[in-house]
Amino acid sequence: MAHEIDALLQETREFPPSESFRAQANIHDPAIWEQAKADREGYWAGWAEQLDWQTKWTRVLDWNPPDAKWFVGGKLNASYNCVDRHLATRGDKPALIWEGEPGEVRRITYRELHGDVSRFANALKMLGVASGDRVAIYMPLIPEAVVAMLACARIGAVHSVVFGGFSADALRDRIQDAQAKLVITATSGYRRGSVVPLKKTTDTAVAECPSIEHVVVVRRRDEDDATLNEREVWYHDVMAGADAECEPEWVDSEHMLYMLYTSGSTGKPKGIVHTTGGYLTGCYATCKWVFDLKDDDVYWCTADIGWVTGHSYVVYGPLACGATVMLYEGAPDWPKQDRFWDIIERHKVSVFYTAPTAIRAFMKWGPQLPQAHDMSSLRLLGSVGEPINPEAWIWYHKYIGGERCPVVDTWWQTETGAIMITPLPGLVATKPGSATKPFPGIDAEILDQHGNRVEVGGGYLAITSPWPSMLRGIYGDPERFRQQYWSKWPGVYFTGDGAKRDADGYFWLLGRVDDVINVAGHRIGTMEVESALVDHPAIAEAAVVGIAHEIKGTAIAAFCIVKESERANALADPAKFEQELKAHVAEKIGAIARPEKILVTADLPKTRSGKIMRRLLRDIAEGRALGDVTTLADPGVVATLKEKYEEEA
Ligand code: PRX
Repeated sequence: MAHEIDALLQETREFPPSESFRAQANIHDPAIWEQAKADREGYWAGWAEQLDWQTKWTRVLDWNPPDAKWFVGGKLNASYNCVDRHLATRGDKPALIWEGEPGEVRRITYRELHGDVSRFANALKMLGVASGDRVAIYMPLIPEAVVAMLACARIGAVHSVVFGGFSADALRDRIQDAQAKLVITATSGYRRGSVVPLKKTTDTAVAECPSIEHVVVVRRRDEDDATLNEREVWYHDVMAGADAECEPEWVDSEHMLYMLYTSGSTGKPKGIVHTTGGYLTGCYATCKWVFDLKDDDVYWCTADIGWVTGHSYVVYGPLACGATVMLYEGAPDWPKQDRFWDIIERHKVSVFYTAPTAIRAFMKWGPQLPQAHDMSSLRLLGSVGEPINPEAWIWYHKYIGGERCPVVDTWWQTETGAIMITPLPGLVATKPGSATKPFPGIDAEILDQHGNRVEVGGGYLAITSPWPSMLRGIYGDPERFRQQYWSKWPGVYFTGDGAKRDADGYFWLLGRVDDVINVAGHRIGTMEVESALVDHPAIAEAAVVGIAHEIKGTAIAAFCIVKESERANALADPAKFEQELKAHVAEKIGAIARPEKILVTADLPKTRSGKIMRRLLRDIAEGRALGDVTTLADPGVVATLKEKYEEEA
């Protein structure tokens, strides 16, 4: 930890909100943090009251650590809150503006979205899906994906969205873990000009998923065709026959809305469980105050629906606010590197939320690209997914925000459901690289190993009181839930992140302190990649670490011990072998987990208790501990390095 904290730059620049932004901001009362603290439950209840409930709750919170129930006894429906309640005032307003990668544009009003969601909800019922059943969604970023999520919510079914870039194995594991009854997929999707065959991958996965009763297939391109078997149906066919009225299922506030798999430090990905009332409250509140959403905004969060950001800030939060949401299916550099700026100009995007890894790529491509577009519609910028380095922050502020848009660096997690540490753009002076302060009503602290509060300085980031959008568990594994998040200090949530607080009380995030690697804003467990490598017939043992990368922030380096029997064969052509291993990981997990570097080694440095010494491996991979890594194949080298490190420690 100390090592990381020392490495942090002292950033002294400050950007206070402009008077004009402050004056129009949804929140501009600096007393709000104190007020929320004085009556936390009353404050959150005030937010929940801004949603539509069929039955009001009787108690705001039941807290038996680590189990929380929010808005106890209340009944509501998430799709009703995201769609129906806007019909009277915003029926003809676009809910979605979608652009496909090849350039087609669709505008879908709230009224149209209501019709589609209701029809698809009825179709799901016809296919035997009932409240509480799990439905997997494996789709490109097309409007039907949003319809699918909301249709599940409408009938009380639990969606489990699996990112369209994940492999068949990853999809299969997630379907099996959730025991999903139905999968919704598409024939294909576009990515950087090529066609991704999603249906084929689904077929491979589903062949090993006996729980699946039906597969619904969206035809992404007119020319896509497929012969469907008896359990598969076309989306357009079931929609054509479905009634456009569907009474929402009024579910309990604590009814499971969705599960979403994310990587942890050990074992297989875990299905994070979110429920309805508290989750929606958190998404709604943060959209109102962090993104300062107004009725005339065109709001664009560039995340895919496969990640939590796509759940909270493409679908549930902005739609609960009645916003117009921009959706773009494809890559930022297709057909050219100015695609995002072109979209902002043509659709007059006013609020833009993206990830540091993208911002670093934009920087590399150069300011002349945004400068060639009229981006004066923008009024607020956001960042999420990993620490944003001050240079990238300044570049974003200057070239994308024209020095007039506040930049909100938002810290949160799949587990937290909604933004937790963030500037309120009309109130908080930002410092490049700092997520600033906890959202009102959130108790975030820096704690040391023993749970003592660190006023100024570094430590572990913890959340010390329950919050409405918190995870309610890991699907099917209450023990892992308790162990992973609640065992470090009693009744306190451990985030897995290190952070420091400066003298002004600002939080600076320092990255993961566990064995999770944040690659381009996506969490990957070292264990998952190691298992995928060991699954290759030539590999006996593997250890994976994160290394610094110019665009991705962090990339994966893998140390592999080759089986004696395979050595001669594998090492005859090292370059080819390296490619083969990288491809193997991509096939097992998905392209996002593909290692950047493979290092063949004769031994792995471990502590006496058998824990891999990852810091040493990181130093080796980044060239600090060893100039020439080819000597790693010499069994003596690792042992010598290990001794040297143990002496230092
Ligand atoms: O390490 C933190 C980093 O991303 C992790 C959460 O990843 P995930 O659950 O995939 O959710 C990503 C989108 C919310 C955190 O534990 N992280 C996320 N946002 C930031 C961040 N690190 C620094 N600054 C942020 N703004």
